[in-house]
Amino acid sequence: MRLDKYISKALGVTRKEAKEIIRRGEVQVDGEVIRKADFKVPEKANVFVDGQKVEAKDKIYLMLNKPKGYLSTTERDKDYPSFLELIPEYEHLEPFAAGRLDVDAEGFLLVTNDGQLAHRITHPKWKVPKTYEVLLEKPLTEEQIEKIKQRKVLVDGKPVAVEDLKVLEPNRVLLTITEGRFHIVKNLFKELGNKVLNLKRVAIGEIQLDEDLLEGYYRHLTEEEVKKLKKMVGLD
Ligand code: URA
Repeated sequence: MRLDKYISKALGVTRKEAKEIIRRGEVQVDGEVIRKADFKVPEKANVFVDGQKVEAKDKIYLMLNKPKGYLSTTERDKDYPSFLELIPEYEHLEPFAAGRLDVDAEGFLLVTNDGQLAHRITHPKWKVPKTYEVLLEKPLTEEQIEKIKQRKVLVDGKPVAVEDLKVLEPNRVLLTITEGRFHIVKNLFKELGNKVLNLKRVAIGEIQLDEDLLEGYYRHLTEEEVKKLKKMVGLD
């Protein structure tokens, strides 16, 4: 990779700014000051800017269909594997999940190393809708459906930010919420004396989980999809 591209990726600056930093003699590659923007950075080179080691990491955005039994965290756990075990080829890029999913939940895990995007997708301020397909132990009554839609069900004394509820079958619903409190879907139905038997996230914002994406498999989001997500959270 050219040095100006490397510096621009590593510092998140424009190519023009990177060239300026290089011209000022602030960049060292393997101990030598390099002032040429088109210098080819060798693989595994040690690059320093102003004495600080920097790394050009590519940004990744994956749609992973998380199976049950996997953690959405990156820590190693003695009981369950992390989702990282499903994407070993990307582990060096230090990805994490933008929005957790319980170990017994499945579906769309947005895996990225774009910290700013992940933060905004999960922050309630940006109200990014997440849709879950929920299988319940008992059918919902009309009264309960209305209560959920009107945000009258409280969890820990606070209304749940419900955007939409579609009843697929008496005990199977599509619930869209714009918040991510811990166990929020399970707790919402628990408040109504019901129990979630199966929980699957099927959409984040406008991006739907591909129906033909098998459990444990992933695909890269398209540029268009990344743009849509960024736009939703004011990053365009
Ligand atoms: N709500 C839950 O209860 N669990 C999840 O994994 C996500 C939302």
